[in-house]
Amino acid sequence: MGRSITALALGRGMHVVLVDVSDDVLEDARSEITQQLRHGQLLGAFPDAGATGTLTTALSAEGAADAVAVIEAITEDASLKARIMAEISGTVPAGTPLITNTSGIPIAELAKSVERPEELAGVHFMNPAYLIEMVEVIRGPQTGDAAMGAVLSLLERLGKKTVVVRDAPGFVTSRLLHPMINEAARIVSEGTASVESVDQLMHGCLGHPTGPLRTADLIGLDNLADALRLLAERTQNSTFNPCELLVEKVRRGELGRKTGRGFYDYGEVLS
Ligand SMILES: NC(=O)c1ccc[n+]([C@@H]2O[C@H](COP(=O)([O-])OP(=O)(O)OC[C@H]3O[C@@H](n4cnc5c(N)ncnc54)[C@H](O)[C@@H]3O)[C@@H](O)[C@H]2O)c1
Repeated sequence: MGRSITALALGRGMHVVLVDVSDDVLEDARSEITQQLRHGQLLGAFPDAGATGTLTTALSAEGAADAVAVIEAITEDASLKARIMAEISGTVPAGTPLITNTSGIPIAELAKSVERPEELAGVHFMNPAYLIEMVEVIRGPQTGDAAMGAVLSLLERLGKKTVVVRDAPGFVTSRLLHPMINEAARIVSEGTASVESVDQLMHGCLGHPTGPLRTADLIGLDNLADALRLLAERTQNSTFNPCELLVEKVRRGELGRKTGRGFYDYGEVLS
């Protein structure tokens, strides 16, 4: 997600500092972002006029000390996010909006780790961020008016349509989509229908763009399983826990499009 959000910002002429854990990951990110920019340009996702922004990379939050806004998009792990958000908020000056792209960790929970909780808001970009026009914006109980204003104006510059919701585990989109994908996987493992049949029915009868299991492969089954576990813990509703088929696929490294195989076989690693 960090890569496709970067492609989105570059395509809109903004300057981006991308922070990740190693030079290898950052090098791979650069080449994927170049492909995504080309893809977005071909599909008319960016304005025709105007130059592409510049990309700088860094290995620590220090690299983003001068940013006008920070978007966190690291692995869906609550304690890791809390640690990184604390580091970021200690690095950027007061008045810099902090945005988390979590799929469902309550903003109020992450707000406990930052120095200025009034500057933290959630923006749940959809995948790929440079193509999907709508984003879910989450206003935490402590998010202030100034931060909300800055976040909405940044999203407007990024060409996004926004819907603002209140804070809750999974917000709106993950609370609805993730359990649906989990049930789709349960249906397959119970032998009621094949992967293809589930997706065909949800597409043909109910207008789902790709079917839930193809969407799962796009999201990444590891991220999906993490988000479902968090949803189960935070709502104390164990039915949200990832089903055995999902867990087994993650165990086997069949994570979806990013590894070339998930519910579907892609034959090669797609980015
Ligand atoms: N996959 C989706 O479709 C989707 C959609 C919306 C939101 N999200 C959310 O976006 C976030 C990222 O998801 P993803 O699917 O891109 O995960 P991913 O595993 O593909 O990418 C996570 C990235 O975070 C980096 N990272 C991990 N620890 C780090 C650290 N300490 N410092 C800097 N970078 C670090 C990893 O190296 C990796 O590049 C999650 O919170 C997820 O829930 C995902």
